Amino acid sequence: MTSAPAVSRARIGVDWRLATSLACMGRQNPELAGHPDRLRWNARYGGDYVPTFRPHPLAVAAMPTLPAAGPVLELACGPSGSALLAAAAGRRVTAIDASDVALDLLGNEAARRGLSEMLTLLQADLATWQPGAERYALVLCTSFWDQLVFDAAAAAVADYGVVAWEALTDAAREGRPDLPAQWCLGPGEPASLLPAGFDVLDQHDVPSPPDQPAVKRQLLARRPPFPSSITAAW
Ligand SMILES: C[S@@+](CC[C@H](N)C(=O)[O-])C[C@H]1O[C@@H](n2cnc3c(N)ncnc32)[C@H](O)[C@@H]1O
Repeated sequence: MTSAPAVSRARIGVDWRLATSLACMGRQNPELAGHPDRLRWNARYGGDYVPTFRPHPLAVAAMPTLPAAGPVLELACGPSGSALLAAAAGRRVTAIDASDVALDLLGNEAARRGLSEMLTLLQADLATWQPGAERYALVLCTSFWDQLVFDAAAAAVADYGVVAWEALTDAAREGRPDLPAQWCLGPGEPASLLPAGFDVLDQHDVPSPPDQPAVKRQLLARRPPFPSSITAAW
């Protein structure tokens, strides 16, 4: 995760989209060489780590709610079974993460499943990422929170598209006081942070084992099209 609410945003260059889509061929974004999030998560995903490539339950829940066509964007994807699920369902998927090790794992599994053509792997720091012009049927992010990233992600949702997000809540800090507050959702978030006009399909705290507080919250919300009455007025 990252804590960079004050960092200014720079557009990811088109050249790097191409270069980093070759992550499984060993290309890396040199700007992230010493980035602490890259180093930390590369260490986590390296060595003996064995990804399950199980789709996240939130992604499974989101898929039937999507418009019939349109690409998917997954942020902080890790070695994501959700990206593979969407690609196998015929969606073009852009998967972004700071960890080239995670992207290599995902890229190799996509190749094994014959899904490479459907996937663009982008190694980027989400603190400086902006979505560009493309609009997505689904913007998915699980186990990551940064309010500025959420704001940018919501802006990247297409008409009728869905944003699906899961993150830790403030309750997680009771058991882990070292957890930075900006990595955790406050009361009512993230639904309360959506731009006007989104319809919240569901927001709930993920049940925890008995006697333990719920520490994660999931959101599914849809962007309705720009109201035709307002369009007509323009
Ligand atoms: C807790 S893992 C979640 C992975 C996956 N979304 C899941 O639900 O299993 C957090 C992910 O965020 C990525 N990450 C952390 N900081 C990042 C940053 N600043 N920019 C991009 N990705 C980042 C990590 O590499 C890691 O894959």
